[in-house]
Amino acid sequence: DNPQLFDNHGRELSYLRLAVTDRCNLRCTYCMPAEGINYMPERELLSWGEMFRLTRIMHEMGIKKVRITGGEPFVRNGLLDFLTDLASLKDLEICLTTNGVFVGDYLESLQKLGVRHINLSLDSLDRDRFNQITRRDDFQKVYDNLLRLIQAGFQVKINAVVMQGKNEEDIITLTEFAREHPVSVRFIEEMPFNGSGLVEETLFWDHIRILDRIKSAFPGLQARPFLYGETAHTYDLPGFKGNVGVIAAFSRTFCGTCNRIRLTAKGQVKTCLYDDGVFDLKAYLRSGVSDEELKKQLLTLFNKRPLDGFEAENKRIGVITESMTTIGG
Ligand code: GTP
Ligand code: 5AD
Ligand code: SF4
Repeated sequence: DNPQLFDNHGRELSYLRLAVTDRCNLRCTYCMPAEGINYMPERELLSWGEMFRLTRIMHEMGIKKVRITGGEPFVRNGLLDFLTDLASLKDLEICLTTNGVFVGDYLESLQKLGVRHINLSLDSLDRDRFNQITRRDDFQKVYDNLLRLIQAGFQVKINAVVMQGKNEEDIITLTEFAREHPVSVRFIEEMPFNGSGLVEETLFWDHIRILDRIKSAFPGLQARPFLYGETAHTYDLPGFKGNVGVIAAFSRTFCGTCNRIRLTAKGQVKTCLYDDGVFDLKAYLRSGVSDEELKKQLLTLFNKRPLDGFEAENKRIGVITESMTTIGG
């Protein structure tokens, strides 16, 4: 009696991305304007209890992995209790994406809860470049926490958005980092979710240029097979403890195997990162619906899923003005 989540293109949905807050302590240029955005009052966010109920229901429908995103997840009070609740759901992999400023205070708790996968946003290994990109002075904290996470045995991926004139040097410095450390460094195409509504016409650092740059400095690059549901194309390098990857987030090369459901901080369902938000699940939930009704509604939503990010973008009302901090990435 538990309908499993499939979409109209036959893709199994097994990965929930849950944005638990729209707030963040950093101001990354690709995510927010310098002055920040108008944060939502607490009542407009899904409560922890609501998020738990929705995750439990989707888990019953086949979600096997939940990624906690934000904003920055650790700025919302109560995250650890919420993770403790999630850990009670059997065979659900809990992953986190974080900017790394506060995570150092929670390593032991996270380990106890069985959280093993942490993706850390780090666009530069140079303090000045880091400060310019994040508009804050937290490089040392993030770097120390990165080393501590690795030391503690977490499976760490570094997310680096590549931007012309801001951090192209770091394609090399971050790849070098993977030589000595067992991490996956993923270089990401910048997407137009900086909250300003202003978009560059063309993207200079697309996945092809990024890969060419890595190859020219590290010719031994060896492609791994691309895995269903992944965003990154991953490459091994001889003698490296870690590996590197490229995420064609703007070119959208991996939509064919997309297995994701998104819930934004205010409780909108997104069936694609590039859609407008297709359903107000918070309002529906607060109208007093049963679990069965929720399940039916979810199935309906995923029966109208766009084939890819281009179709989703074309169906949008107006241009993209959202900030990644409200979407969750
Ligand atoms: P893993 O679960 O470790 O594979 O991580 P992930 O790539 O699914 O998630 P993460 O939060 O680390 O995001 C890495 C980058 O991929 C970010 O820039 C995300 O915005 C981007 N990304 C994640 N999912 C999608 C997607 O469905 N479409 C697009 N275009 N980009 C995505
Ligand atoms: N384009 C590409 N990636 C982005 N992220 C945030 N904003 C953007 C953007 N405009 C990435 C961050 C974070 C992940 C969740 O999304 O690097 O690690
Ligand atoms: Fe904060 Fe992440 Fe947005 Fe940077 S990308 S401002 S760390 S939410």
